[in-house]
Amino acid sequence: TQQMANGDKPKDWTFEKWMESRSLVILYGSETGTAQEVAARIGREARRYFFMPIVSAMNDFSLDNLLKQTLVVFVASTTGQGDDPSNMRSFFKMMWSQRKNKHILFNLHFAVLGLGDSSYQKFNYAAKRLNNLLTLLGGRSLIKLGLGDDQHDLGPDFVINTWLKELWNKLMDLYPLPEGCKPMDSSVIMPPKYKAVFLNNIESISNGTCVEMSKSVSDRPINIDNAHLAEVTMNTRVTADDHFQEVRLIEFDMTHSEERHKPGDVLMIQPQNLDEHVEEFLQVLELDPQQVFYLDVNDPNVSLPSLSLLPRPCTVRECVKNYLDIQAMPQRYFFELLSYFTKDETEREKFLEISSSEGQQALYDYCNRPKRSILEVLADFPHTRQNIPFEYIFDLVPSIRARPYSIASSSLALPKKAQILVAVVNYNTVLKRARLGLCTNWLARQRVGNSVPVWIKPGTLTFPDLSNEAIPPVVMIGPGTGCAPFRSYLQERVAAGLSKGVVMVFGCRSSTKDYFFKDEWEALVNKQELELYCAFSRDQEEKVYVQHIMKDNAPYFWKLIGEQKALVYFAGNAKRVPIDVHEALTYICEVGRGKGSQDAEEYMSKNLTKRYQTETWA
Ligand code: 2AM
Repeated sequence: TQQMANGDKPKDWTFEKWMESRSLVILYGSETGTAQEVAARIGREARRYFFMPIVSAMNDFSLDNLLKQTLVVFVASTTGQGDDPSNMRSFFKMMWSQRKNKHILFNLHFAVLGLGDSSYQKFNYAAKRLNNLLTLLGGRSLIKLGLGDDQHDLGPDFVINTWLKELWNKLMDLYPLPEGCKPMDSSVIMPPKYKAVFLNNIESISNGTCVEMSKSVSDRPINIDNAHLAEVTMNTRVTADDHFQEVRLIEFDMTHSEERHKPGDVLMIQPQNLDEHVEEFLQVLELDPQQVFYLDVNDPNVSLPSLSLLPRPCTVRECVKNYLDIQAMPQRYFFELLSYFTKDETEREKFLEISSSEGQQALYDYCNRPKRSILEVLADFPHTRQNIPFEYIFDLVPSIRARPYSIASSSLALPKKAQILVAVVNYNTVLKRARLGLCTNWLARQRVGNSVPVWIKPGTLTFPDLSNEAIPPVVMIGPGTGCAPFRSYLQERVAAGLSKGVVMVFGCRSSTKDYFFKDEWEALVNKQELELYCAFSRDQEEKVYVQHIMKDNAPYFWKLIGEQKALVYFAGNAKRVPIDVHEALTYICEVGRGKGSQDAEEYMSKNLTKRYQTETWA
C-alpha cells in the first residue's frame, strides 16, 4: 500500500485484486437493533473509502473466519445490568476460551465502538470487556475505544460521528488510496439497502412465489420470529380520571405462548404506527397505499427484514403501518440522503449543513431538542419529500422496534395471562407540538379482543427460587410503574403459599390519584403478607420520595439489609431516582455501621452490589 500511495503500483496491479486487500469486517452485538444500524452505517461509509465491508452479528462469525481477518470493527451495545447483547454472548465466550492464546490475534487491527447510556452504572461494560479481551489476545487497537452515550448533551450520534472520523483518518493512513484517487465524497449517492419490486396484478401475490424468491436468512436481533398474537383481555386506566398521567393495566391472553413467565420477565411488544400518522406519511410522500411490492437484497451482505415484520409481498400501507418507524428522530445520514433527492437549493443547503461533520449542533437544534420526528421533518421540506425514490425509504427510516414491559402479574396466580402496567407517553415539545409515545399510545388504543404481537423474554431482575426454604428477606423499591415486577413476585409468593419477609417501598404523587393497586397492597398488608411503605410526594407541602422514607427508617432497613442480608431490588425511571436510591442505601449502611461514609461506600460495593438488582427504563 505504501508503494501505491507513491503512485508506483506493482506490475500486476488490478483494481479487483486491490479491493480484495481492503476487506473490512464490521461485527455487531445488538439487542434492540441500534448497534446493527450503526454497523450498517459503517458499512456504507466504508465503501466511500474503497473498503469492502462485510456486516455480521458477532455470533454468526466463527473463530476461523476471524483469524483470517486483518481489519475488524466491532460495535457493541450494553444491555441490562452491564450485560452483552444476546447475539454477542456466544462470540464473547468463544473468544474468552482463547484467553491463554496471547498472540492468536496478532494479525488483527481492530476498533471497538460501544453504545451505552451513562445514566446506568455499568456504562458500556460490554464494549469495555471486549476491547480488553481483544488486546489481551494480541490484537492491535486502531483507535481508542468509543463510548457512545444515549445521554450525551449533543445527542447519541455525537460520539459516534467523532469516533468514525478518527477511524477513517487512521484507516486512510494505514491503507492509503492510489495517487489520483480520493474517497468518494458525498456528491456520489450510495445504492439503496434493498430493491423494491412492485407487483401489478394480484395473481402474482396469491401464488406465494415471492416469499420463496429470496432465501436470504433474516437476522433476528429482536427475535420477532418468536412472537405470537395475544388477545387483549383487559385494558383499564388505573389512575384517577383527573390525574395528569394516564397509566393503564393491560392484560393479554397467553394461551399461545409456549413458555410460562417468571417474575422479572418482560413482555416484548411489537407496536404499529398510529393510523393518523400512517395516513399523514402516505400523503406527505404521495405514496399509493394499495400498491403491492416486496423487498429483495441489493447487496448479499445485507439481510432482508424478518418476514414476521414485513411480509413479502405486502401493500405500501401495511409496510408503513407495521414496519417504518416514522416517529423516530432522524439521524445525520437521513439529511445526507435527502440532499441527493431535493430539487431546491435552499432545502439542499439546510440538509448539507445538518449532515456535515460540523453540523452536530444544527442537528441537535433542529431535531433532538424539539424532538422532531421523521414524519415532521419530511413535511417540513415540500420540495424534497415527493422526490424520494421508494426504495430509499428503507435507508431513511429505521424499522419499528419491539419494546419491553415488565410483567406485572404471576403466571402461578393468574395462569395463561400476562398483565403489564403502561404509563402513556403524551407531552408537548418545546415547539408546543403534541408528542405521543408510539408503543404506549398504540397500546392504550387496543380494545378487548384485539390481537397484539408479543413474546416473553427474561428481564434483568431475578428473584429467589420459591422452593428454596431459606429465602432471605426481600426489599423492593418501586416508585410509579416500577412496582410492576414486584407485583408479579408478590403474587407468585402468595400463590406458592409463602408469607412474610417482603418489604415494598412504593412512591407516587397522591394517595387518591395515582396509587394504583391500593386495594391489593392493603389486602396483603392485612394478611401480613407484605410490609408496605408509601411515599406520596404531593400529599403535603414538602416532597416525600421513596428514598426519604428509607432514610427516615434507616435503623430498620439496616436490620434487613445489613443483618438479615436481604435481597434488594429497584425498578423504575432511569433519571435521578436510581442515583438517589443508591445514595439512601449508602446512608442506611452508614447509620447501621457507624463508621462514616467512606466505610459505607466500601460496604456497598463489597457486600451489597451482589445482592442489589436494578431494572430501569427511560
Ligand atoms: P413528583 O412527580 O411529585 O416529583 C412516581 O413517579 C413518583 O416518583 C412521583 O411521586 C414522583 O414525584 C417521584 N419522584 C420524582 N423524582 C424523584 C426522585 N429523584 N427520587 C424519588 N422519587 C422521585
